[in-house]
Amino acid sequence: MRIAILGAGSLGSLYAALLSRVHGVELLVHGQGPHGAHMTAHGLQLDGEDTHFVSNSDVFFSLEEVGLPEQSFGTIDFALLTGKAEQTSALALLAHRLLSENGMALCLSNGLGHAEKCIEILGPQRVFAATSTHGAWRPSAGVVQWAGKGQTVLGSLPGGPGETEAKPLLDALSSAGLEPVWSSDGLAAIWKKVLLNIAINPLAALAGAENGTLLEPDLFSSAFSTMLEGAAVARIERVNIPDDAELENLLRHVLTATSSNVCSMLQDIRAGRNTEIAVLNQAISLRGERAGIATPLNQMLTSMVKALHPR
Ligand code: PAF
Repeated sequence: MRIAILGAGSLGSLYAALLSRVHGVELLVHGQGPHGAHMTAHGLQLDGEDTHFVSNSDVFFSLEEVGLPEQSFGTIDFALLTGKAEQTSALALLAHRLLSENGMALCLSNGLGHAEKCIEILGPQRVFAATSTHGAWRPSAGVVQWAGKGQTVLGSLPGGPGETEAKPLLDALSSAGLEPVWSSDGLAAIWKKVLLNIAINPLAALAGAENGTLLEPDLFSSAFSTMLEGAAVARIERVNIPDDAELENLLRHVLTATSSNVCSMLQDIRAGRNTEIAVLNQAISLRGERAGIATPLNQMLTSMVKALHPR
């Protein structure tokens, strides 16, 4: 089976390192900038929850600045899009060139709107919903740290492929230790993850703290209230999300499991990259506005993150 990982930053590099050890999987890993160049020239080092070196003779690393290898066009069975929010459409276009006739794609990036962008370019019959709660960060170019074990959720979207089509990928993710779970309601899975991200990421980023700090009662209450605003928007859009008590347990569970993780928004701010606030809290506020629901906490967090880091 041929898998392409497109937009290999922290999360994509984690998936690349773990999938590279799975028997029968051939990998194409497409990155950019100093990290992509380092992987292409020297390979990739995984540290943290597991340690493994991925040689560039075992995996085909390609670089955005150079372009995709033409011999890979039309050969990929599954494309995993793992870039930043603003890259999704460009990465879906790369997937369009790489995928075989029956090839399928999914986007693991945080936020709302990614699956829709993939469907626009690839068609609904080729796109899964997907989310990841694995924690990863990059201490330096060519190195990825697996900071917290989580889950990979794959799910079906209206008119999209189902569990049978996803089976080879689910098996590979399972052998890789990426804990795949299938959801028959992919949209609900995406929203569940978004509700976690709107609760955790801006608060942890503004506090400059690891996720576990948000377990402190006052901060937890702020995080959970932010989550509930998002849940109200989801429910008005008829998304089938869990009840409030289950959401509270989920938030506590993820904060505990990723307590020593520096969340992706804080990583972005520290590295001077764009944050994902536009596809997280801002997207909730805009959808709330459209539906006539006030989301003052999400609005305030959006403006504070933008003021702190105007990118
Ligand atoms: O964005 C992140 O950092 C992650 O999605 C999560 C689950 C909040 C863990 O840090």
